[in-house]
This record gives sequence, structure tokens and C-alpha cells, in this order.
Amino acid sequence: MHSAIELNAVSKQYNEIIAVNNVNLTIPTAEIFGLLGPNGSGKSTTLKMLMGLVQPTAGQVTVLGIDVQKDPVAVKRQVGYVPESPDVYEFLTGIEYLDFIGDIYGVKPAEKQQRITEYLRALQLDGREGDMINSYSDGMKKKISLISAFLHKPKLLILDEPLNALDPRSARIVKDYLQSLKAQGVTTILSTHVLEIAEAVCDQIGIMYQGSILALGNMAELRQKASLPSSGLEDIFLKLTGTGDLRPVVEELLK
Ligand SMILES: Nc1ncnc2c1ncn2[C@@H]1O[C@H](COP(=O)(O)OP(=O)(O)O)[C@@H](O)[C@H]1O
Ligand SMILES: [Mg+2]
Repeated sequence: MHSAIELNAVSKQYNEIIAVNNVNLTIPTAEIFGLLGPNGSGKSTTLKMLMGLVQPTAGQVTVLGIDVQKDPVAVKRQVGYVPESPDVYEFLTGIEYLDFIGDIYGVKPAEKQQRITEYLRALQLDGREGDMINSYSDGMKKKISLISAFLHKPKLLILDEPLNALDPRSARIVKDYLQSLKAQGVTTILSTHVLEIAEAVCDQIGIMYQGSILALGNMAELRQKASLPSSGLEDIFLKLTGTGDLRPVVEELLK
């Protein structure tokens, strides 16, 4: 049985910027994994490399046992992806877009209809599905993007800042839904710059900073690594990354 995700010595350089710096990471199936780090730490670039949307400058990316560079289409078929800023088709209505995505993934019409109706209701978008997406708020666009990622029941979800812009109730519903998918064997990797989200949702957390994963583990393991048995993630982050000059980084994460 392969892991859900494997990164072997993966780097990505944009001109002179090293966005991701020699990352090694293995994520087992049926886990919710969080990449936690401040803006610019390389989270989105890492997730895009998992999707085959960005080519690594070094290293190898394997998703669900598939070499992403060799067969990006096979990966995309089995994965649900929510980009940081959903680029959903603004000139379609919500329901037209979801219908279109369901058809692309070959979801059977009756099942597609039923699932779309349930998701729209759960995320309180029912009644607005006939409106043009360009009239939606950022949070509503994020919800449409999430539904489109869930629609074909993928084995793996790659979610870039999935709870950003969501109201607390919808954020809660998405968190609970990810937990119930996990119980069905679905793996989720998500990025967040918010400590509380990582702490509340994730089984394992990778603390990312300047393109590297500085520390990895569940909360108990991270606490142990930092020798801070009863601390929250904020203290652990400070300890693991060296205190002092990283205070502003942590404050940024807590905003
Ligand atoms: N398309 C790009 N071209 C040039 N630089 C980029 C590009 N995408 C990201 N970067 C740079 O790579 C670094 C990591 O960015 P990103 O992966 O978006 O971080 P995060 O998602 O953690 O905020 C940043 O310095 C960012 O400016
Ligand atoms: Mg990002």
C-alpha cells in the first residue's frame, strides 16, 4: 500500500527565489495533514507541485502512487483541488459551474444532482445557485470551489487555505466534513497560515518556513520536540524556529 503523498528532495526555484527548498515529506492515507507557515513560506507552491501545475526544479513528487510528472492527468482525475484564489468561471452561475465540473469527472446525473443539492444546502448556498458567480463574495466562491473538489468523491483532497473567507459556521461544517471523509479513508492535505486551524483540524502538522519544513508531527510530538509539554502551537513554533526574531512571524500567523 503506497502513501498518499511522497516528496523526495523536492525544490522549486523561480528565478532567484527558492520557493521550496529540498523538501522530503511522506503523508500516509486517511490523514488530515496541515502545512502551516506564514505568507511566502512555500505552501501554495508545494501544493501546486502535487497537482502537476508547477514543475519542480529538483526532486520527485508521487501522489497516490503516481509520478506526477509522468502522468499529471491520472493524478488530477483522483484528486480534488481547491486553489488559494478560486478561479471559477465567473460568467457561469453556481449551478452551471458545478454541473459542468460534475460532467467533466463523469459523475452520474442523478448522483450529481443529489450531491450538489446536499452541498449547497450544507454550505448555505441554496437559493443563490442560479446567480452568476461574479456576483458572489470571496467566501461564496470558496464554497463553490470546495463543492467542486468534493463532487467526484476523490481519494485525496489538496486544499489551499480552504477555510479562508468562510464564515465560522461554514468553516465548522467543512472541518467536520473532512473528519467524516477521513473516516472513509480520504486523505487531506491543506495549507493554512492560521495556527488555530492547523491545531483544530490536522492529525499531523508540518511547520513550513522559507521553503523548508522545520518540524513535523502531531501536536504531542511537536510539543515533545520543543520540550514544552503543555504548550500550544504558538510556543512550539517559536521554540522550534528559534525565538526572538521570529516573534513577528508568529504574530503574523496569529492575525
Ligand atoms: N509564479 C511565481 N513566480 C515567481 N515567484 C513566485 C511565484 N509563485 C510564488 N513565488 C514566490 O515563491 C515564494 C513562496 O510562495 P508561495 O508558495 O505562494 O507561499 P505561501 O503559499 O506559503 O504563501 C514567495 O517568495 C513567492 O513570492
Ligand atoms: Mg499560499
